[in-house]
Amino acid sequence: MSIDRLRRFIGDMTSLVGGAWQDKDEAAIVEVGQKLLGELVSHDDWLPESMAKVPAHGYAQNLLWCDPFERFCVVSFVWAPGAVTPVHDHQMWGMVGMLRGSETSLHFAPDPETGALKPGVLNALKPGDVEVLSPAEGDIHQVTNALTDQGSISIHVYGGNIGAVRRHTFDVKTGEPKLFVSGYTNKEQPNLWDRSAEVRAQS
Ligand SMILES: [Fe+2]
Repeated sequence: MSIDRLRRFIGDMTSLVGGAWQDKDEAAIVEVGQKLLGELVSHDDWLPESMAKVPAHGYAQNLLWCDPFERFCVVSFVWAPGAVTPVHDHQMWGMVGMLRGSETSLHFAPDPETGALKPGVLNALKPGDVEVLSPAEGDIHQVTNALTDQGSISIHVYGGNIGAVRRHTFDVKTGEPKLFVSGYTNKEQPNLWDRSAEVRAQS
């Protein structure tokens, strides 16, 4: 288990948002970002144990990294068996990479006449898969751990500090939004910077 992959991913994402940010080019960030995230989650050898602990119920949202300028963040979502989120939005671009287990993402869109939210596309993710979320294209969804007998873990990357923004949950029947701020579960972030073993190994 080595955190090196995560550190490299964060470096690559920092370069990416630094280059594309002047134009606020979301499409460019997400196009390259989903390849980087796909590479990260196709290897399950880097997530620290403390960030992977399956909760008794519901889900943990562990912040792995937030960019100093809040241009992006990386979060480990750890799902209890069968856990399900409310129907919600994000207010920023997002990418969901499946690391361990499996989850489903059911998209909703408002009925133009009644405003009620109607279910649409259902994406099923398995390890190595990445789903992209874009507010411009409609990002209201509900996520469920597809496994009812074990935990699942997905690594989420968002175009901001997702835990500290006002966003919404929705009443599906009426489409009524309700403000919420999700926060994070962990109080401490993993140490990305103790590279001493690597340096000692160099002769
Ligand atoms: Fe979401």
